[in-house]
Amino acid sequence: MTIPDIIIAIDGYSSTGKSTLAKLIASEFSFLYLDSGAMYRAVTLFAQERGLIDSANNIDEKGLKAALEGPEAPDLRFEYSPEGSQTFIGERNVEKEIRTMAVSSQVSPIATVPFVRAFVDDKLHEFGRKGRVVMDGRDIGTAVFPDAQLKIFVVARDEVRAQRRFDEMKAKGQDPVMEEVMKNLAERDYIDSHREVNPLRQAEDAFVLDNSDMNFHEEIVWVTGLLMGRFDIRS
Ligand code: DC
Repeated sequence: MTIPDIIIAIDGYSSTGKSTLAKLIASEFSFLYLDSGAMYRAVTLFAQERGLIDSANNIDEKGLKAALEGPEAPDLRFEYSPEGSQTFIGERNVEKEIRTMAVSSQVSPIATVPFVRAFVDDKLHEFGRKGRVVMDGRDIGTAVFPDAQLKIFVVARDEVRAQRRFDEMKAKGQDPVMEEVMKNLAERDYIDSHREVNPLRQAEDAFVLDNSDMNFHEEIVWVTGLLMGRFDIRS
């Protein structure tokens, strides 16, 4: 089955399985995959290391702007590898560090800052120019690529999301506590959907996928059917 060179936007709340779906699509239909949250996470790690956000989530916005845009600014970027994109701060691959609970607990406040969103959007648009791209996040179909030819909004039941995040952290050798995972998800849901600039919401032309009770195979069957219908593909 031949899919045209399009942009596929996948949005939804944390831990609904957006990145799993995006990776499945990327490998099944040879798309480049980009996890937009990784860049917000990299900015968060950077802010933490520079002491520009405190434990009560007070952000030194002026300091962060100067550090990100000044002459000494680090190069925050994605590099593509067969396993998916890798996130770098300068020469440092931070792909693992940006997935810790320390970063997860401060990334949503950082993502509310308007110039941070503009900074990340520039990087996402640059990546989008590669053409055949599947990107997941919170505002990909509504703000970053409002003209994306296919938009999917992923949902899953809360307990399923928490268990997935818990298992993912365990698999990475971390030691998660279920109550903390649930609290973090609830906090991020609230902040992500209530911020002023481009809050998380379902695009009007998005197709909704509830994958609470689906396995990978069922998800791919669902997407394949969607693509065939959407682009009038016969087989
Ligand atoms: O997908 P994730 O959990 O790695 O995303 C981390 C945070 O980044 C999320 O809580 C909100 C923010 N984010 C965003 O505001 N817009 C995006 N397109 C992607 C992520």
